Amino acid sequence: MLKPLLLRHQTVTTPLFMAPVAGVTNTPFRIIVGESGCPQTFTEMVSSEALSRQVGKTRELLHTSDKESSQPFVQLFGSRPDAMATSARICVEEGFTLVDVNMGCPVKKVTKSGSGVQLMEQPKLAGDIVSAMHAAVGKYADITVKTRLGSVHGDERLIPLGEAVIAAGASMLTVHGRTRSDGFGGRADWRAIGQMCQGFKVPLVVNGDITCPTSLRRALKESGAQGAMIAREGYHRPWLFKQIAAELSGGVMSDPGRDAIVKLMLRHLELLELYCPDRAHVLMRKHGSWYTKGFSGGSAFRQQLNQCPDSHTVRQLLSAWRNEK
Ligand SMILES: Cc1cc2nc3c(=O)[nH]c(=O)nc-3n(C[C@H](O)[C@H](O)[C@H](O)COP(=O)(O)O)c2cc1C
Repeated sequence: MLKPLLLRHQTVTTPLFMAPVAGVTNTPFRIIVGESGCPQTFTEMVSSEALSRQVGKTRELLHTSDKESSQPFVQLFGSRPDAMATSARICVEEGFTLVDVNMGCPVKKVTKSGSGVQLMEQPKLAGDIVSAMHAAVGKYADITVKTRLGSVHGDERLIPLGEAVIAAGASMLTVHGRTRSDGFGGRADWRAIGQMCQGFKVPLVVNGDITCPTSLRRALKESGAQGAMIAREGYHRPWLFKQIAAELSGGVMSDPGRDAIVKLMLRHLELLELYCPDRAHVLMRKHGSWYTKGFSGGSAFRQQLNQCPDSHTVRQLLSAWRNEK
């Protein structure tokens, strides 16, 4: 179902990606999802304006760890070809071998400067951005693009955008099967991705609403894509990647029980303490809430987790919750 993807500079052995997710896909989470069977991760999106001006906090987003199961790919956003090229150079110096360009984010903070999904309105500029990045680092790294179906249903903005970025050197295209006006509502339209991308001569990655091995199969089939990318279900249930791997090799893996979830949370907390020591217990709140969804006593657990003043208290709470019936 998922065959190795040949890009210009590398082969992605299993093209199943944990998507770039702002505020989530930091180093500790990438280690967790890698240990949970995800073959390839992305960083959070990184501002090219801040990175090219060497803003320290932004530069931290490029930190990786040798505990990660593979070198992550990086994603940049921006609308000035110069800043994107400079940032791509910084990423390559940091060891990244694939630099993705965000052309799908609908959040105002990003689109107001002409970045993210706003670039779907300007295919020429989108091509210029990829071209500048390709000229800067194309000898060493793949430049790829992640975008959406269009602005509204029925428009075909994806076609000129795809043509422009591929002509400029993009070596892979990821499409979230929603439009800008959908935001995150409605259902991803995998078939529409396939219809609009059929003329493109680069590997295609389908994204949107992949939540289980069955939806993965359907998304690949309906879009005709060679790879798939998962965001929300990947951070809500990182073990999904192991379940998919089990299914790909003909087996089945059931959902983890309470003991396994506690073990996962303890590991995540340990990594947060290592990489984000001042905020570990605070960052653990959202992850713990996601991981315990659907468990009996989960709601009371989440309320208590939100009040834990430090990591020590989080550990005590986890131990008590493990022993609850
Ligand atoms: C909280 C949040 C943050 C996101 N951050 C990014 C980002 O940094 N870069 C990006 O390309 N997409 C981002 N996305 C979009 C996802 O990568 C993905 O395209 C979208 O959620 C659809 O996939 P899913 O149905 O598997 O969640 C974000 C989505 C969410 C919910």
